[in-house]
Amino acid sequence: MNVYDSHSIAASLNSLGYKATSSINSADLIFVNTCTIRAKAEHKAFSFLGKLYGLKKKKNHLIIGVGGCVAQQEGKKIIKRMPHVDFVIGTHSIGHLPNIIKQMHIKKEHIVNIETDAIIPVIKPVADGRLREKITSFVTIMSGCDNFCSYCVVPYVRGRESSKNPDNILQEIECLVKSGVKEVTLLGQNVNSYGNKEGLCSFSELLKMINKIEGLKRIRFTTSHPKDLSDDLADCFKNLEKLCNSLHLPVQSGSNKILKKMNRKYTIDQYFNKLEKLRKNCAGISITTDIIVGFPEESDDDFNMTMKLVEKVQFDQLFAFKYSDRPNTPSARLGNKVSETEKKNRLQKILTMQKGITLLKNQALIGSCELILVEGLSKQQDKAQLSGVNGKKQWTGRTTTNKVVNFFMDNDPVCCKKTARDDTTKCQTALGKVIPGTMVFVEIENVLPNCLTGKPIWIEPN
Ligand code: 5AD
Ligand code: SF4
Repeated sequence: MNVYDSHSIAASLNSLGYKATSSINSADLIFVNTCTIRAKAEHKAFSFLGKLYGLKKKKNHLIIGVGGCVAQQEGKKIIKRMPHVDFVIGTHSIGHLPNIIKQMHIKKEHIVNIETDAIIPVIKPVADGRLREKITSFVTIMSGCDNFCSYCVVPYVRGRESSKNPDNILQEIECLVKSGVKEVTLLGQNVNSYGNKEGLCSFSELLKMINKIEGLKRIRFTTSHPKDLSDDLADCFKNLEKLCNSLHLPVQSGSNKILKKMNRKYTIDQYFNKLEKLRKNCAGISITTDIIVGFPEESDDDFNMTMKLVEKVQFDQLFAFKYSDRPNTPSARLGNKVSETEKKNRLQKILTMQKGITLLKNQALIGSCELILVEGLSKQQDKAQLSGVNGKKQWTGRTTTNKVVNFFMDNDPVCCKKTARDDTTKCQTALGKVIPGTMVFVEIENVLPNCLTGKPIWIEPN
C-alpha cells in the first residue's frame, strides 16, 4: 500500500514540475513515506530522517516532508523531535500535498496536516514500481480497516474501512490495461470484506467483473482475513482463469488462546477448513502467511503450536515478525510480555523451519513447466548491460504461484522443440520473441536463494 501511495505522491510532485532523482544529494525536495506497522519500521523512518539533518544544513532551500502512518500517528511531535523537517502530512491528507508545497515556496514555515475528515482525491499512479515495463500494477480497492486486531495500529492510522466504487475500479484497470499493464494486484487491508459495509458488490463479484477485462492477463490480491474468506471466493480460484493460484492468508499464531487475545475471530480448525476448501478447488495453490512471535502471554506451548501449524500447512512462504507494542493498541496494555531474547529465539526457529519447507517446495518444481508472465530484464541483466556485457539476455517474471523465475533467451526468435504441458500444437509452431508482457513456458532447472531458473520452451506468439 505504501508503494502505491509513494507513486501517487510522485505523480503529484511531477504535476508541480518536480522530477525524481536517484541521487539524494541533488534533491530539492525529499518526501519520506513512512510505515508504523511494527516498532522497527518506525525506528527506521526516524533514523533516516535523522540522517537528513546534515544535508539540510548544507542546503538551505531543501524541503523535507514526512508522510504515511508515522506522520499520521506522531503529527507535530515529528517537527519537535526533528526541526529540520518542514512539513508533516497524514495518510488522509495526501491530496493537500500540492498546496503545501506551493505554500513552502512562498514562505518556509512548518506545516502539519493530519486531518482525518477531508479526504481529497489524489493523482493516481499510472503503474507500480516496475514503471519501466508497466506490466504489473497495484490497484487500491479499499482503505482503512475495521477489524481492530489487538496488536495492530492500522485502524488508528488508516482509519475505518471504506471501499471504492466498482465502476471506478474497473475504469482504473481498463485504463492501466490500455497503457500496457497485464497484471493487477488489488490492494486492501482486508479485501474479503470489500463492499459489505457500503452495500456494493461482494469481492468475488468484483473479481468476476475484473476477470472479463480484455487484455488483462492476471489478477492477484492482498490481503485476506481468514474470518472473511467466503466459499464464493474459494470458488473463484476454480472458475476465474485470470485469478492467479496464490493466496496470502495471515494466520498470526497456531494457538487458539493467542488468536483469541489477538481478536482474530477464528480458530485454527476454521483456518484449516478454509485451506482445505482452497486446496480442493485449486490443487497447486500457493499459500503464504504472516506470523507474529512473542505476543504477550505466548507460552512455549503456544509457540510450539505455531511451529506445528507451520509444519502441517507447508506454506510456500511465510513472513514472521517479533511482536512489538504499538501506540493505542489493546495488546500494548497487556502484561506478561515475552522477553526480547525469547522473541528472537522463536523468530529464528520459525524462519529456519520455513526455510527448509520453502527449499523443498521449490526443489519439487525442478523439471516442471511453469507459465511465466515476463516483467522485464532481470536485475543481474540490468547490471550486466550497465557494465557492457553482451550475449543472451536474462529475463524475469513470475509463476501463477508468485515465484520469481529467471531465464536466458537469445535475442533472435527461436523455434521450440519440446512439449509445453498440454499445449503441443502451439509449441510446434511457436516462433516468438520475448518482450515484457509475454507469457513463456519455462522448464525449471535450478533453485537459487531468491529465485528459480530454467529454460524457455514455449513463447507466446507476439
Ligand atoms: N507486532 C508485530 N507484528 C505485527 N504485525 C502487525 N502488527 C504487529 C505488531 N504490533 C504484522 C502482522 C501483519 C503484518 C503486516 O505485520 O503479522 O499481518
Ligand atoms: Fe490490522 Fe489486518 Fe487486523 Fe486490520 S485485519 S486490524 S490491518 S492485522
